[in-house]
Amino acid sequence: MNMLIDEVTRAAQRLAAAGVDSPRGDAEQIAAHVHGVARGRLHTVPDADFDARFWAEGARREAREPLQHITGRAYFRYLELEVGPGVFVPRPETEVMTGWAIEQLRAMDAADPLVADLGTGSGAIALAIAQEVPRAQVHAVEGDPLARPWTERNIARCAAAAPHTGGRVTLHSGDFSGALADLDGTADLVISNPPYIPVGASVPPEVGEYEPTAALYAGADGLDAIRVVERAARRLLRPGGRVAVEHGAVQGAAVYWVFAEENGWKETRNHADLAGLDRFVTAIWP
Ligand SMILES: C[S@@+](CC[C@H](N)C(=O)[O-])C[C@H]1O[C@@H](n2cnc3c(N)ncnc32)[C@H](O)[C@@H]1O
Repeated sequence: MNMLIDEVTRAAQRLAAAGVDSPRGDAEQIAAHVHGVARGRLHTVPDADFDARFWAEGARREAREPLQHITGRAYFRYLELEVGPGVFVPRPETEVMTGWAIEQLRAMDAADPLVADLGTGSGAIALAIAQEVPRAQVHAVEGDPLARPWTERNIARCAAAAPHTGGRVTLHSGDFSGALADLDGTADLVISNPPYIPVGASVPPEVGEYEPTAALYAGADGLDAIRVVERAARRLLRPGGRVAVEHGAVQGAAVYWVFAEENGWKETRNHADLAGLDRFVTAIWP
């Protein structure tokens, strides 16, 4: 075993003791980040290349700073995004909802599908849709001024790598309740991963101490922002347009009723994430 692999093993033990969920994987990703190699090439790093930054970054993770803040990168579907303090780190469960939206848009008879992403954060959902749905025009709304520089950076990064992707995402500043009024009645799809944690709920340190408050909490039952998204979707969608909204694992029934027939929606459905947990609701505006 080379020295680095040995160090990774020791670091993983420390991370496990600190309560980190995936200690070995995180230790390997920190080592890969420090040495600028792919995780699968760690065994090729020569012993002479020992770098004290590995233990410095390991100590940050041990203090429960999110791995993505340490490496500065998050991966979402086929995207590499820049993240850090001030912006929500995109999660794998949101990839499933985004995949549903991409399938819907590809199946639609719309030449240039119009999409609104309410609460875009890093731009993960908006950029993935622009990347995977040819000709989609995506309007991304973000209310937090600390998050928007990250969104702008990720849009620019995608535009530099693939002009046809970044160029089809437009960032709008402001609250999503009244956003994009000039698009009322024209959107083919509204998608949102809004804040949905009930105020006062306990969360892991990576979330409570590092994620922006505006991305997390939404009233006593956690549904305040989802209710605002429902009203915005009603206003924005064209007849036959679709909505998709992410929620917490125990909120499926409550969110179903926010988008129920009584409120004018049809074909409301609950969907699970990859862990089999209730994760998002979709519906059609008649
Ligand atoms: C859970 S994060 C999701 C970010 C990104 N869409 C993702 O899935 O990674 C929610 C985002 O919505 C933004 N947000 C919350 N309430 C908002 C509001 N009323 N108007 C505009 N943006 C809002 C937050 O600042 C945050 O960036």
